[in-house]
Amino acid sequence: MSQFDLKIDAASLGRVAVLLGGDSSEREISLMSGQGVLQALRARGVDAHAFDPAQQPLCELKNQGFARCFIALHGRHGEDGAVQGALELLGLPYTGSGVMASSIAMDKIMTKRIWRFEGLPTPDWRLVASAEECAQALAELGAPMIVKPSREGSTIGLTKVTRPEECAQAYQLAARYDPEVLCEQFIAGDETTCPVLGQGADARALPVIRIEAPQGNYDYQNKYFNDSTQYHCPSGLPEAEEREIQRIALRAYRTLGCRGWARADIMVRARDRQPFLLEINTSPGMTGHSLVPMSARAAGISYEDLCLRLLAGASLDAWQHQADRAMAGA
Ligand SMILES: Nc1ncnc2c1ncn2[C@@H]1O[C@H](COP(=O)(O)OP(=O)(O)O)[C@@H](O)[C@H]1O
Ligand SMILES: [Mg+2]
Repeated sequence: MSQFDLKIDAASLGRVAVLLGGDSSEREISLMSGQGVLQALRARGVDAHAFDPAQQPLCELKNQGFARCFIALHGRHGEDGAVQGALELLGLPYTGSGVMASSIAMDKIMTKRIWRFEGLPTPDWRLVASAEECAQALAELGAPMIVKPSREGSTIGLTKVTRPEECAQAYQLAARYDPEVLCEQFIAGDETTCPVLGQGADARALPVIRIEAPQGNYDYQNKYFNDSTQYHCPSGLPEAEEREIQRIALRAYRTLGCRGWARADIMVRARDRQPFLLEINTSPGMTGHSLVPMSARAAGISYEDLCLRLLAGASLDAWQHQADRAMAGA
């Protein structure tokens, strides 16, 4: 028996929409995630159906009699609070974080401000608005430095710079995706990622995954299309380090008010083994080969059980409904 065991009656979940595709740059990955989730839920007896918000308006969910949604969308609109807000208005419970946590987590700069304020470790950074400010950030933060858009995913628009002459191109690339460009101290060390499941005091970190990319270059190509990237779970890290990464991932999650599930990306600095939070993904990849399912399996949770468990946790933002009840004088 694992600590995540849960008995769920699939029939009681009603007609379920698996939201997939959408209009973000991560559409293709979302289609794969969504198909995986759809098959898993059906295999567990759930009355689940695909629904692509790029192909029909969300208000159709009500017309088609859906009772709840599994959000398998990634990136803009699907992961940033927009779809979550629409589902709040429709009154349809959905998986994962609510409007505010989704929206903050999508914004790397906002996220880092909160983590820094709460004393959580995240690399030093500057928010820059021009190539000149980017070069100034390099002078202040030191080389190497990562330049990336604040609100993107999948390593899109990201450059590692070491010399001032590289700043103009790096800035322009990032600014193509987002006017808010983040310059961040580069952390040389081990790349890890740690999923968290649950809500509030019941939230738990899953086993850490250590990622080993060819030449340490973990870009979009390597992430999705290269077989030579290695994922280690168990991580192979000393137990004390694994526990520390989990502790930080859990605090990062709770601090933002995440719920349901998320996955924190954490670099462990080689020279002193200090973990640094890069970001937290509130709607992570969910294909059978994705990282959260891999870590869940190591904790004894099958892919199908993970999907069912996330769906069973679908909810609306509790405080809004509490306020509604209070105003109605209940
Ligand atoms: N400050 C940093 N130090 C070292 N590597 C970084 C840093 N920022 C990003 N990276 C690398 O780039 C990848 C993508 O960055 P991340 O911040 O997770 O954004 P996203 O996954 O949303 O594109 C990371 O997984 C890591 O390999
Ligand atoms: Mg990431």
